[in-house]
Amino acid sequence: MHKLLIAVAAVFFAATAFAYGPHDNSCVECHSLHYAKGDSIIGIKPNTMEKNPSTGAGASDDISLCLGCHNDDEGIMPILLSSTHPVGMKPGKVKVPAELLTSKGTLGCVSCHDPHPSNPNYQYLRGDVKKSGQLGKFCALCHKEKVDMSEFAPKKEAAAPAPKKQ
Ligand code: HEC
Ligand code: HEC
Ligand code: HEC
Ligand code: HEC
Repeated sequence: MHKLLIAVAAVFFAATAFAYGPHDNSCVECHSLHYAKGDSIIGIKPNTMEKNPSTGAGASDDISLCLGCHNDDEGIMPILLSSTHPVGMKPGKVKVPAELLTSKGTLGCVSCHDPHPSNPNYQYLRGDVKKSGQLGKFCALCHKEKVDMSEFAPKKEAAAPAPKKQ
């Protein structure tokens, strides 16, 4: 009986490891339940060393959490703040929906990514983005004026004649 349970458990964990993205269900890789080192009971030693060109200061908040793993030393898909989309500052001209901003009103890594295993999207992105060819739809969350949304409309609608002015 025990052996059967172990076999079932092994299959279950193997299946979940494949079913989800690389941030698997070991929630404790990011959250420490009793020995937190940051907000949202973040358990990773924050990487505050990398200077953020958008703020002139070291990385902080969720950014320092992500960079705790995504850096050159760890070699896990390193992200360099010197060459990445601006983060860490309050938005200027660009209108960002309030629910995408961090609790401090800044643009974080979590503005664009929901890093949780339950997120089925391409690259853990927010919005409804299933593959790289749909990135424009994602950018439109904040840069609507730059995106031709008709490209993402269902085919039938796209082929239909332009609607008459109302
Ligand atoms: C890659 C790192 C990472 C992993 C793995 C991770 N979390 Fe999180 N979690 C975060 C960050 C960052 C926040 C705060 C920002 C946010 O809300 O997205 C957070 C916030 C939360 C919150 C509070 C905010 C909310 O959305 O309700 C809960 C609850 C939570 N995580 C549960 C989990 C559970 C359960 C797992 C495992 C299945 C997990 N997390 C795995 C990074 C992670
Ligand atoms: C505990 C370490 C750890 C932390 C912290 C972490 N990640 Fe990851 N992340 C990983 C690993 C491991 C991979 C897989 C790397 C690979 O496949 O080479 C990954 C992959 C990714 C990917 C690519 C997903 C894909 O489908 O290929 C994205 C996007 C990502 N992480 C975003 C984030 C963001 C945003 C944060 C902060 C909220 C974060 N990660 C924090 C370990 C981490
Ligand atoms: C403005 C939105 C945005 C912000 C902010 C953002 N990302 Fe991303 N990230 C993306 C998009 C879009 C992709 C997918 C790019 C592609 O597939 O070409 C991506 C891809 C990634 C990947 C996978 C890289 C790879 O080599 O495949 C990682 C890891 C990642 N982001 C981590 C982060 C971290 C860490 C932060 C915060 C410092 C962050 N992202 C902030 C939009 C964003
Ligand atoms: C969650 C909101 C959000 C998303 C999604 C987003 N951006 Fe941005 N983007 C911003 C903000 C905020 C700025 C900074 C301008 C400002 O301060 O208002 C910015 C700035 C930029 C800039 C100017 C960079 C510079 O150094 O001046 C470019 C280019 C850009 N975004 C491209 C993209 C692309 C391409 C995507 C999709 C792959 C994307 N953004 C997705 C919010 C976003």
